[in-house]
Amino acid sequence: MKLKIRELKKHPEKHLGQDVTVNGWVRSVRDQKSFSFIDLNDGSTLSGLQVLLKADRPGYSELLPKLQIGASLSVKGKLVQSPGEKQAIEVDADEIKVIGLSDAESYPLQKKRHSFEYLRTIAHLRPRTNTIGAVARMSSSLAFATHHFFQSRGFLNIHTPIITASDCEGAGELFRVTTLDVEKPPRTKEGEVDFSKDFFEKPAFLTVSGQLNAEIYAMACSDVYTFGPTFRAENSNTTRHLAEFWMIEPEMAFATLEDDMELAESYLRHVIQYVLEHNEEDIDFFDKLISPGLKERLLGVVHSSFERVTYSDAIILLENVDRKWEFPVKWGIDLQTEHERYLTEEHFKKPVILINYPKEIKAFYMRLNEDGKTVAAMDVLVPGIGEIIGGSQREERMEVLEEKILKAGLHKEDYWWYLELRKWGSCPHAGFGCGFERLVRFTTGMENIRDCIPFPRTPGNALF
Ligand code: 4AD
Ligand code: MG
Repeated sequence: MKLKIRELKKHPEKHLGQDVTVNGWVRSVRDQKSFSFIDLNDGSTLSGLQVLLKADRPGYSELLPKLQIGASLSVKGKLVQSPGEKQAIEVDADEIKVIGLSDAESYPLQKKRHSFEYLRTIAHLRPRTNTIGAVARMSSSLAFATHHFFQSRGFLNIHTPIITASDCEGAGELFRVTTLDVEKPPRTKEGEVDFSKDFFEKPAFLTVSGQLNAEIYAMACSDVYTFGPTFRAENSNTTRHLAEFWMIEPEMAFATLEDDMELAESYLRHVIQYVLEHNEEDIDFFDKLISPGLKERLLGVVHSSFERVTYSDAIILLENVDRKWEFPVKWGIDLQTEHERYLTEEHFKKPVILINYPKEIKAFYMRLNEDGKTVAAMDVLVPGIGEIIGGSQREERMEVLEEKILKAGLHKEDYWWYLELRKWGSCPHAGFGCGFERLVRFTTGMENIRDCIPFPRTPGNALF
């Protein structure tokens, strides 16, 4: 029977003494006199499977030189208890087929630790490393747990468009989508590029967020979520920014900021609990080799209630800290990572939800509070990352929204459908966006977000 290594390790009792077939790639070969040990890995687990190949097997001497690091094999043999201390089981091979040869000397992955910078240059091979393989398994579990969480709460999954004509965040960080000839675009009489001749007969872009479209479905199906790629042409060369990243965006009708906070907190707890249960080996690996204390941090999130603080209180708190900030603190500033991380890592030592930000620093769609100065926004900050979730209660009042669009320098006509939702059956509603790769980074403890997505896109880099 063809089996994954994960299955053999999880339920050895089911397969012990039986013939199994396992396919995978050679991680290393230890060549003894009367037998060889092959460390075979198929990516389903961190630790591979030990394959025992006895020297008295027919064809041994022809096979041995082909067993090189990186080669792909199909191994048939009996699953037995291993006498070695490092592993519980091994396969006593009857037959080994070399499916794809590899030349150990030129193979870019050697049996040593390579730098993550180097691994990014060989993104076609890096998932074969322990770390990036573990990141892939964690990501898969987090995505599954995300769908599970929302589906079990009755949220509908909506696919919102990737190509859009509106700038949700109003920050102008859009990638343009066009089929016009960039060298010789058609021009209007005034000499401007004539987008009426473009594919969509108007300017079009890659979306920065699925929120506005998700709101449409929330105003019909009550609770919905979208989980898809988003794009930002911001020139941020940091360890927490990508130009292409995935976002989980729930949107709830008949809901307030309070409901939004409850949802965000429950969501993070659920997905973290899920990986703690299902990716134990990977998390132990990250805890030991990548980010000591990781497991404790994750357990902390599962077991602590998040601190809730208003932006204004956070500013007072930060102003009273005896420290020279790179970005000076005063009411009205957009909080920087140094401030966010101080609050969650040093002051509260747990996740923090900051609410009620000044309206000037937040997007036009956020609901204006009674004080006329702040909006019903929330940012969830976690240790080691800073902002992981950004959300808000949405402005459901037509006149207030119209004014906010105007003040943001946007055009009412571009948002006509968004405004019309406030015309018929408007209601309080709220939602948030969670950056998927930031979640991966938080749960793995990986230093750089570029190692938390299979193929990172950042300024100047769209390899692979
Ligand atoms: O705070 P943001 O910009 O919020 C929105 O886009 C809202 N429309 C979401 C909503 O309410 N439906 O982005 C949400 C999250 C951030 O908290 C962060 O985790 C992640 O998306 N994010 C990024 N992740 C990686 N690279 C980037 N450049 C990111 N920008 C935002
Ligand atoms: Mg934000």
